[in-house]
Amino acid sequence: MKIAFSKPSLPTDAAHAGAVVAGVLEGKVLGAAALALDAAAKGALVRAVAASRFDGKKGQTLTILAPAGLAVSRVLLVGLGKAKDLDAQGAQAFGGAAVAALLTSGDAEATIAVDVFDGSPLADAEFAAHAAFGARLRSYRFDKYLTRQKKEDKPSLKKVVLNTEAYAAAKTAFAPLDKIADAVFLTRDVVSEPANIIHPESLAARAETLESLGVEVEVLGEKQMKKLGMGSLLGVGQGSDRESKLVVMRWQGSAQKDEAPVAFVGKGVTFDSGGISIKPSAGMEDMKWDMAGAAATIGAMAALAGRKAKVNAVGVVGLVENMPSGTAQRPGDVVISMSGQTIEVINTDAEGRLVLADALWYTQDRFKPKFMVDLATLTGAIIISLGHEYAGLFANDDKLADRLAAAGKAVGEQLWRLPLGEAYDKQIKSDIADMKNTGGREGGSITAAQFLKRFTNDVHWAHLDIAGMAWSKKDTAITPKGATAFGVRLLDRLVADFYEDKK
Ligand code: BES
Ligand code: MN
Ligand code: ZN
Repeated sequence: MKIAFSKPSLPTDAAHAGAVVAGVLEGKVLGAAALALDAAAKGALVRAVAASRFDGKKGQTLTILAPAGLAVSRVLLVGLGKAKDLDAQGAQAFGGAAVAALLTSGDAEATIAVDVFDGSPLADAEFAAHAAFGARLRSYRFDKYLTRQKKEDKPSLKKVVLNTEAYAAAKTAFAPLDKIADAVFLTRDVVSEPANIIHPESLAARAETLESLGVEVEVLGEKQMKKLGMGSLLGVGQGSDRESKLVVMRWQGSAQKDEAPVAFVGKGVTFDSGGISIKPSAGMEDMKWDMAGAAATIGAMAALAGRKAKVNAVGVVGLVENMPSGTAQRPGDVVISMSGQTIEVINTDAEGRLVLADALWYTQDRFKPKFMVDLATLTGAIIISLGHEYAGLFANDDKLADRLAAAGKAVGEQLWRLPLGEAYDKQIKSDIADMKNTGGREGGSITAAQFLKRFTNDVHWAHLDIAGMAWSKKDTAITPKGATAFGVRLLDRLVADFYEDKK
């Protein structure tokens, strides 16, 4: 779907064949664009609004087909709520709602009239840029395998034009957001792909496409990882016919070339069968998206490089397939991690922490980063704790935790902090090794985080348990159901607000 910006024109001329979208504040307050129409057209809108229950509440929409006096196919009114809600997320939701209503409507083009209402915290250009961002994000579809889609189910909308006097500034403000949307789409694509298509090697190949953005990408195979002593990660992949990979992505955007990087680390289990501790078959297909942490890490690197962020950043993803077979790791096996610490593998389904143990250790050891943030669909327990509204946040540093929470709030990818603490260590004590890989059902997300902490070497670190957030069963304002790319916009915002060179 194409996005364009242009100066306002009234939808009365024949050039406007498609849909026109206007925002309406709560209390049926129409914007200037709607009110600038001639008497007949304005009258048609006002009557339609009066006759309906639409009153401008956030998320409401009202479609008026072929209104008198207008050359357009339809006018779509979108409820904006209160003027003070018209921040970036409000503007994104506006664009998202427009696309949700029009994507398969039959219209090929939509013109969004960008009215900025008194009391709105955003300037016109920013409002238009964020509305466009929301429109693009909501237009995502993963339909490549639907070969028999009915015509009426296929997207018709090809172009969205945002009308504003500030069109030139809006276009400039949209440029970096457009790159972030590209990155979100890359992440959604790889998370959506089934595990027969996305496996460690093919996911590493997708990461290598970031080279076109100026990212340096290295792919380590099993031989190299063995040399590094990554027995913890390698143990997880040893039951699979697919070779495990570790991908290292580097973006050098800071003016200070030797400035310590920020580091992101992702769990990339391209399929989690559970291994010998095999999962029940109901719902096992969901475990194709057990690489969503890695996908978000790749996406965050693509976003930073795409918009040429003035920061040095490293992304490291551990890619493995967790399968049962004659070569698979057994419950009771003891593995030696790159850190030298030994782990008794009680449950082969607690594999994410085994992958991250070596990926985290490697990242701090090689790059001496300012901090590390890992993203992982790590525990079912986090879904019990927080449902699908917040990802779990764990950190050994309060400043990093606060910054992450603030960035999450700003982009609508919310985090809720849970505790770490020595008191939990007894749950992962092993009789035969330095620790075991499960701590029982009680506080399952916390003992998993407590396990990871042992591989951070006390570098500033945060862990985001995104198991409840990586995939959505329902459409939301700017995210169609399916892969959400949770974490991409969050990490990009973290860097933008706190770690880029000052302009
Ligand atoms: N990938 C799963 C966690 C998960 C569950 C993600 C549901 C998304 C939805 C992880 O590898 C796992 O299997 N965790 C186990 C840990 C347990 C064996 C200690 C879990 O949560 O049950
Ligand atoms: Mn598992
Ligand atoms: Zn897993």
